[in-house]
Amino acid sequence: MRKLLGLSVFLAVAQVAHAADIEAGKRMATTVCAACHGANGVSVSDAIPNLAAQRAGYIEARLKAFKDGARPAQGTVSPTANMDAIATQLNAEDIANVAAYFAAQPGAASGAKSALLANFAKTRVTFPEGYKEAFTKYHTINFAATKQVRYYYANTFAVTAARAGRPLPDGSVLLTEVYAAKLDADNKPVAGADGFYVADKLLAYTAMASGTGWGDDIPEMLRNANWNYAVFTADKQQRAGVNQADYLACHKPLDKVSYIFTLKQLSEAK
Ligand code: HEC
Repeated sequence: MRKLLGLSVFLAVAQVAHAADIEAGKRMATTVCAACHGANGVSVSDAIPNLAAQRAGYIEARLKAFKDGARPAQGTVSPTANMDAIATQLNAEDIANVAAYFAAQPGAASGAKSALLANFAKTRVTFPEGYKEAFTKYHTINFAATKQVRYYYANTFAVTAARAGRPLPDGSVLLTEVYAAKLDADNKPVAGADGFYVADKLLAYTAMASGTGWGDDIPEMLRNANWNYAVFTADKQQRAGVNQADYLACHKPLDKVSYIFTLKQLSEAK
């Protein structure tokens, strides 16, 4: 009897494994996963693993682990935030299907890299000239790990909506100035009386802005309503090679707070 039971469990597992639908896996892989892992599983950057020819069982196990572990404390970002945000949206079938698809791709040549997908490489966000006068500065954050301090600015559309408790409308623009902190003789950031690092050199700007239709070419699993993202150099030029998928995945779990980490501070802006 025990043997029979064991056999039937084995058959059930085998049947589930057989049900993997590679075509369905391909559709998801080439529109969503491809933004980071490449359509054929050859990733777009050194920070992202290749999935081509990886074992299906391993891919499935990792996806389940991302999904089960996706409970970062409020206000924090887990080290696997991007994958957690994606894996929580996958059901068991999706996982089996994409795993089967990537497992069936030929292994990557050493050093090979995929190009960014056009819809994630292209952003509609332009540099908001005149923001210092026109925008509201509403928040500051120290980043200890990178020894940086960031100042947060928002345009009137965004501030007005946040103060009124409404979702941020299309036309909202948020900008941060990213500064290297001033360092003391021990290479530690110097803090001012307010506890914030003293800003030294301007390194870059990050921006997110939303406009009607701007999210239409982003697949639902990564879409942040109509938000687009951009990074600008200190001399206000759009930084090339930015993958919006990184930002979209990171902000994806924030759908209840207009996709921004600082809605509370924005709603309290003076
Ligand atoms: C926004 C970029 C991004 C997207 C989109 C994305 N991934 Fe990932 N993925 C990553 C990063 C970064 C890692 C590195 C691991 C980490 O976060 O711990 C990773 C890791 C993984 C791993 C673990 C690989 C290993 O060697 O351990 C698997 C499996 C995986 N992703 C599957 C997927 C699948 C399937 C999709 C589509 C449904 C997907 N990913 C979409 C960025 C992404």
